[in-house]
Amino acid sequence: MLVKLNEILHHTMTRDYAVPAFNIFGFEDAKAVIDAAEELHSPVILATNKVAITHMPIEILGKMLTQLAERANVPVVVHLDHGNDYETVAQAIKAGYSSVMYDGSQLPFEDNINTTKEIVKMAHAFGIPVEAEIGSVGYSDPSLGIKATLTDPLEAKEFAERTGVDALAVAVGTLHRMEEQSAEIQFDLIEQIQKVVHVPLVMHGSTGIPDDDLKKIVKTNFGKVNIGTAIRMAFGNTLRYEMENNPNAYDRIDLFQASIQAVKQEAKKKIELLNAHTYELIES
Ligand code: G3H
Ligand code: ZN
Repeated sequence: MLVKLNEILHHTMTRDYAVPAFNIFGFEDAKAVIDAAEELHSPVILATNKVAITHMPIEILGKMLTQLAERANVPVVVHLDHGNDYETVAQAIKAGYSSVMYDGSQLPFEDNINTTKEIVKMAHAFGIPVEAEIGSVGYSDPSLGIKATLTDPLEAKEFAERTGVDALAVAVGTLHRMEEQSAEIQFDLIEQIQKVVHVPLVMHGSTGIPDDDLKKIVKTNFGKVNIGTAIRMAFGNTLRYEMENNPNAYDRIDLFQASIQAVKQEAKKKIELLNAHTYELIES
């Protein structure tokens, strides 16, 4: 079933689980992630970033993903990841997305607050919850020129209160697109942030988090844990192996099958580490 982000994040602050948001790029990985969630009876978030909505128009993605979500026998959120302007967020809502992120993390503090506030006002008018970011989760490739700044707890408190966001992405030691699980999570900083911020927290760049730390994060106020690179690597590396070992094959539906299974296994592993199958839906 298609659900909104707040419906599955509500209990994550008081219970020991978090819900994974997997970056997907089309039908095959979306199906693999939903299959994994259904097998484990877990809610899941399908996240599409700029690369995904540039490859496939958001109206088409929205129709396909909301259909897949509605057919699923577990709660599924269709989420815009790192939306970087008002227009893109509005297009996602029009396309049927049940959650949006606006990322103003590269802007000065006051500009980030003002733009986020406008987006929250518009999204809430349509009943759609909003995630935004304070501090800035950088990228493992410094040539991208994206700043990385750990979140200041008092800025996070002020940001959450003044914008009215439903979930808050904070920077506590991860970087996007790490291929090794070697991030050093600042648990002291998490402790300080969750003392003063009263909405569910969102972790970005979670491929880089060691398994033992993912298990610890479940016990904090992080409710949404974003994972992209791990399943992209599972898909791409398996596809390469299949092509090298089947030099005469050319039908992509056949070639994709092993990649779909690899993404499903990786998604199941993360769901289990996050204890997501122990979720509870918000009481209506
Ligand atoms: O917004 C998406 C995530 O932060 C994914 O990060 O690809 O490093 O796991 P990752
Ligand atoms: Zn991210």
